Amino acid sequence: MPAEHTEESWSKHCANEIEQTIRWERPETVAAVIMEPIITGGGVLMPHPSYLKEVEVICKKYGVLLIIDEVICGFGRTGKPFTFQHYDISPDIVTMAKGITSAYLPLSATAMKPYLFEVFKETGENDHFRHVNTFGGHPAACEVAIKNLEIMEKESLVEQSNVQGTKLRTQLEPLLRHPLVGDIRQKGLLLGIELVEDKKTKVPAAPEVIADLMKRCKQKGLIVGKNSDTVSGYQNVIALSPPLSITDEDVTFISTTIKQVFSIE
Ligand SMILES: Cc1ncc(COP(=O)(O)O)c(C=O)c1O
Repeated sequence: MPAEHTEESWSKHCANEIEQTIRWERPETVAAVIMEPIITGGGVLMPHPSYLKEVEVICKKYGVLLIIDEVICGFGRTGKPFTFQHYDISPDIVTMAKGITSAYLPLSATAMKPYLFEVFKETGENDHFRHVNTFGGHPAACEVAIKNLEIMEKESLVEQSNVQGTKLRTQLEPLLRHPLVGDIRQKGLLLGIELVEDKKTKVPAAPEVIADLMKRCKQKGLIVGKNSDTVSGYQNVIALSPPLSITDEDVTFISTTIKQVFSIE
């Protein structure tokens, strides 16, 4: 974020960029805006609380659909059933996958508002959704998903995501004293630890430094993730997304191991 901006003004600026693009392309040529509610693989980037609402208002203004990608964020990962629910928006379409079966079998699904669904009930050209896929509606994957959702509900795993995520965040807080740790971002059991060379300028830490920290975690029995190279040069965020069924003991193991690797008490 440029120094002259606050998080709020930068958020408005970014939403404005979407509006400018829609206008530039001409609204009648733009079908939809698709976005993750929190950018996950790009570095666990949490938007300002007003950002998604601003984007929704822009989409409505120009008659553009808002598609929210909950493939990573959905099914309790951030402490609500779906992450868009943190931001007071009502997307037209929601895409989902991984958490729907807790990844035990591959399955994905797309939900849409009734007014869109109804279009495919018309007669003639639009009487069905003209699309095919190889494993669509696979009964084994669907059965796993139903069981998974049943267990999530029975064990209140969405609430657990909030409770255990907050504990993990609190236990990791001392890491902020380390010169390499520029930020810790957390919502539910989605956490990102941003590693920087300089806390003020947020210049990303070198890939070898991050690789070494990850290797040392692994040697102690903890596998941590890292963001991908969506933005070149910014693969500097350690990502944590443990199972929602994580226990207090697991939370302590994760935080203690990471603190040991960073030599922080
Ligand atoms: C947030 C997000 N959206 C979409 C996808 C792509 O999903 P698929 O491989 O099912 O097309 C991924 C894949 O990991 C993802 O992480």
